Parts: sequence; structure tokens; C-alpha cells
Amino acid sequence: MSQKKTLVTAALPYANGPVHIGHIAGCYLPSDIYVRFLRLLGEDVKFVCGSDEHGVPITIKARNEGVSPLQVVDRYHALMGKAFADLGISFDIYSRTSSDLHKQTASDFFRHLYDSKVFIERETEQYYDATAKQFLADRYIVGTCPKCNHDSAYGDQCEACGASLNPTDLINPRSMLSGAQPELKKTVNWFLPLDAYQDQLTNFIQSKKDAWKSNVYGQCMSWLQQGLQPRAMTRDLDWGVPVPVEGADSKVLYVWFDAPIGYISATKELLGENWRDYWQGEDTRIVHFIGKDNIVFHCIIFPAMLMAHGGYALPENVPANEFLNLEGKKISTSRNWAVWVHEYLEDFPGKMDELRYVLTSIAPETGDSEFTWSDYQARVNNELVAILGNFVNRVMVLYQKFFDGLLDDSLSEFSSDRHQEAVDQTYHAIQGSLRSYKFKQGLAAAMDLARYGNRYLTETEPWKVVKEDQAAARVILNDCLLLIAHLRSALYPFLPFTASKILAMLGQEESSELPSWNSSIFLAKGTRLPAPSLLFAKIEDSDMDLQRKKLEQSTTEVAGESQEINLEPAKPEISFEDFQKLDIRVGTIISAEKVKKADKLLHLRVDVGIKTVELVSGIAEHFSPEDLPGTTVTVLLNLAPRKIRGIFSEGMVLMVDGVDNKLRFLQAQDGASPGEVIS
Ligand code: MF3
Ligand code: ZN
Repeated sequence: MSQKKTLVTAALPYANGPVHIGHIAGCYLPSDIYVRFLRLLGEDVKFVCGSDEHGVPITIKARNEGVSPLQVVDRYHALMGKAFADLGISFDIYSRTSSDLHKQTASDFFRHLYDSKVFIERETEQYYDATAKQFLADRYIVGTCPKCNHDSAYGDQCEACGASLNPTDLINPRSMLSGAQPELKKTVNWFLPLDAYQDQLTNFIQSKKDAWKSNVYGQCMSWLQQGLQPRAMTRDLDWGVPVPVEGADSKVLYVWFDAPIGYISATKELLGENWRDYWQGEDTRIVHFIGKDNIVFHCIIFPAMLMAHGGYALPENVPANEFLNLEGKKISTSRNWAVWVHEYLEDFPGKMDELRYVLTSIAPETGDSEFTWSDYQARVNNELVAILGNFVNRVMVLYQKFFDGLLDDSLSEFSSDRHQEAVDQTYHAIQGSLRSYKFKQGLAAAMDLARYGNRYLTETEPWKVVKEDQAAARVILNDCLLLIAHLRSALYPFLPFTASKILAMLGQEESSELPSWNSSIFLAKGTRLPAPSLLFAKIEDSDMDLQRKKLEQSTTEVAGESQEINLEPAKPEISFEDFQKLDIRVGTIISAEKVKKADKLLHLRVDVGIKTVELVSGIAEHFSPEDLPGTTVTVLLNLAPRKIRGIFSEGMVLMVDGVDNKLRFLQAQDGASPGEVIS
């Protein structure tokens, strides 16, 4: 019989931002621990991931930055792949959904369903932007919220009141692309009749009742109980995998149709024809690691696609995690409230395992959890340094001091069965925990072995024994060396960098071989332990202060709860003649003073070359008047004068209204002189 195969997938992250600790704790670290553990057991396991490069969030990011979607995904694909690798996330492949192989695979999959008459072809009315000549994704439509009157609610959600909306609910809808009022236009798309698979899916999910985490099972059952509806698998969009049907030129596959197929394409890229063994074989088990917002896609929609196709194995488990918060707030990419992995590694070089340790210890396995820098510091100092590091370092220092670090005999067995029992129990506990996706518990079991070692040292006091009985002291420390060798195996899935440091400390050459799991250890006679070095160093308060400050300073408070959007909708088109009517010139501020009884206003006198003008500007909360004289500004001169607080304002100073809520003066690139014209 062929050996059972395991395919582990980690959710393909959207390539529209770098990787942060929430991603790592929720998905990539647990999957990596799981895979490393199976590899230790000698199992046949493959670990696939890649960048999710389609979907509306990517196109919005590209528009925000004024670059192409491909430029966005190229940049983040590289950055994410490197961050994962640097943190020791040991994918067998990190692929991407813009690859030709993926596009072909997704396209073929769709075509197979299409040819098997699985889809329902349905005509619906969607908003269309006649100026931009495009159908509009929900996020590209803004308008007044029917619930709270907020004037820039999105087509899928109002960020002010949280209401979930359909684009047609919006009052006065506007297109984000052109500012024009969109019109409803008929379009045909292909729907997967999820309702047709309702019974099959219910049986599938119910069969997992005991094996799956209760949060995952519960969410699935609640979806099923609401009754499944057909869901569109194609979209009117120009970024994605083209729909392989004649006449469907401006349509692409729905991103949640193509992305999970990315797991299949990545497996193909890794294994060639053998990909089938992991997806279609009798003896395969597929495990999807994801965050909780992905549950319905992995447990209902993707399985329905696989059922519709036929011949595929369904996931054995989907161990979804909840969310990790940061210093009391939700992690947010757009607001820059995050600890980015690549920045962490710059600020704390070499401290990969410190982060892996803390994130595993606080992983949101059963509920949302929280990362704080003070907790990070406490766990590193009180656990890694004080327990694990302390045990290993004490043993290494004593061995060096008493025996010159030289093993005068080969070591493989403990002097007493109780140590072997402690070790066996550790392996057993880790194995039980990891098999049931309880990673915190597994790590705690490994750390308990270090605690055991510390107790043994404290009880036996080899530093005293050595004075009377050298041989007896050596027996104790040899036991400790064996414990450390076992610790290396037990810690390897969680803290791989530490595991290889320990190997070096034991005087062993780094080999490409994995540590042995739960089998005998052998340290050869004549081995010399290198001069002791610290496994972990204490984290200083000052470093933590710096991190907290960095977080506070880099965050940008954007109104509302949006994760990815901070784009002002475009305004309607104007003619060149309209533009030419504006008289915009460079000016220099001559004087500035506060306007009485008006907190926000400054009274400015500005030299604009041809004359000096008086202006009232609402910038008093952002600038002190004494700093302003001499500043170069840009002024709209022919705005109809207005009397503000008794002062005639003869124009307007142009400001950049930053997404960070700061106001900045608009200034020419290499400087300019008063009177120069903006055209
Ligand atoms: N990109 C999605 C997210 O970040 C996850 C996609 S997982 C896959 O939420 F199955 F579609 F690949
Ligand atoms: Zn609202």
C-alpha cells in the first residue's frame, strides 16, 4: 500500500500589502509548525502557498498609487515571499496566481464545469460607468447611505454606520472612476448553483462535526441553515483570469473561484504530473490553514466546486484561526496599525524564533487574542531567556568549566529511566496536541521539558557534586546534554533556528537531515562542545518603547473602518477651457496672524509677484503663524473674493489634504518664485 500523503495549504495572501504578525499568527505559523512536525515523523507531506494576485483590492491599490495592478503584485509578491522565508516558513513552493500555469489551470477548471453544464447563465443588472466604459465592482461605487445619510458609503458597505449594502441601495450613486452617475446595464454571468449541492455539502460538513474546530463547524452549519444560493463565478472586470467562453471578452473569473485553484496550480508547479496524488488519490489528506474570514470559501464554495468537477478529494480539516489584535486595536493595513514582518526582522535581526515563540503562545486558536510589546518582552525574558536559554546555557557553561567541553564517552542513554519517561511524555504530548491542531499546547509541552531540566539541575547541584565526585557530576551533566538533544527535536517544529543553534552547541555539524523524533539520540565520544554562547538575549525596555512609539507615529487615522480604501472618488470631467479659467500662481507668505475668535483661521498676506494679496485660510490648527513668513505656497488668485470674519479674502492657498490628516502646502519640485504661473 502506498503511504498516506498530506497536502497542507496556507491561505494565499492578497498581494496588496506586506505580511504582518496577524497573518503569521493566524495562518502561516501554525501551518509551518504542522508541516515541520509531519516531516519529522517522516510523513509524505507537501506545503503549498502563493500570492493571491487578482481581485478588486489589488486594482484599488493600483489606482491609489497610480500604477498598474501587475506592478503592485510584482512588488508585494517579492516582499511577501522574502518575509515568509526569512521567518522560516518552510513552504515547498510559494507560487502566484498571475502565473500562466495557474491561469491555464483555473481556466480549464472553469471550462470543465461549463462544458458539464454545471453553471446557470443569468442576466442581472449591474452598475456601468459609461464614461469609463466599465462595469463597476461594488467597491467602485459611492453614494449616500440610505440608513445614515453618510455621503460616501461604498456599494457594499457604509463605513459610517456599518450597514451592509447593495450598490443599488445607494442614493445618488457615483462612479469612483469618473465621478459620473453610473447606469444600470444588463450583463450575463455564470453562477454556481450552490443550492444544488446543499445536501451533499451538509453531509460533508456534518461528517466533520467531531474532527473540526467548533468555530469552523458552527460557521458552516449556520451558512447551510440559511440555505445556499447560486453565486456568480464570473465578474465584469478587466483584472483576473479571462472567462474561457466565447463572447465573454470583458469578464474574468471571480477571485474566489480562481484563488483556491491556486493551491492546485502550485502543487502542479511543484510536482508536475504527480500533483494528482495529492488531490485526486485515494490516500491523500488535504488540510487548509486559513483565518476565520475565509471559512465559507474553503468549507462550502471550494468544496462545491470540487464536487461539481468530480474526482477531487475534499479537505480533511480546515483549522481556521480567529484574529490577532495589536495593542488594543484591530490590525489594519490601510491605517498602518501593524507590525510588519520585514520591519520586525530589520529592527530585531536574528530574533525570528522570539517572534515565532510569542505568536505561537498567543495564537488566536479559539478566540481573538492580542499582541502587545510588553507581553512580547515578558514572554521572551521570562520564558525563552529564563527557562529555555537558562537551562541550556547553564549546562554548557558547567560542562566547559568542569570537563573542558569534552565528551569522554558516547552518549545515548540516560542514567535513569525517569528522564527517558519525561522525554517520552513530552513527545507524546506534543504529538497529541499537534495532531489536533493545538499549537500553543504543543509548544508548552516542549517548554516543560526545559523546565524539567532546570529542576533536575537545581535538585542535583552538579556544581557542588563536582567537588567531591567528578564522575557523578559528569553523569548529571551528560543527562542534561541528552535532554538538550531531545529539546532540539521537540522544539524544531516551533523554533527551527533555535533547534539548529542547539545542534551546534552540542558540537554537531549542521546537516540537511532532520532531527530524529522520539528515537534515540547519539552523541559520539570525543565530541567537543564549542565555547558557550547565549541562546537568547534579554529584550530591553528601551527597544519596546521604540516599537510603541513607531506604531503610534506611523499609524494614519483614516475615518471609518475601511481596510483598504482611502481614495477620494473622482469628480466629473471638465473641459480644458474650464481649466484655463483658473489663475494659479506661486506666492511667498509675507505675514501670518491668527484671526480673532476663529480657531481655525489664519490671516495671510502673500506676495504673488504681480501684487500682494490678503487671504483667509483655514489652516490655523496645522501651522503656527510665526513659522510661516517666507514659505512658498500656491495660490488660486481669481476665486471670487469673499468676506470672512470681516476680512476680504482675495483667493485661496492650495493645500494637499493628506490621508494622514495632515495639511501640506503645494510647492514646486525645485522651488519657484512669486508670480510664476501654474498651467
Ligand atoms: N487572499 C485571500 C485573503 O487574504 C485568501 C485566499 S485563500 C485561497 O483573504 F484559497 F483563495 F487561496
Ligand atoms: Zn450608513
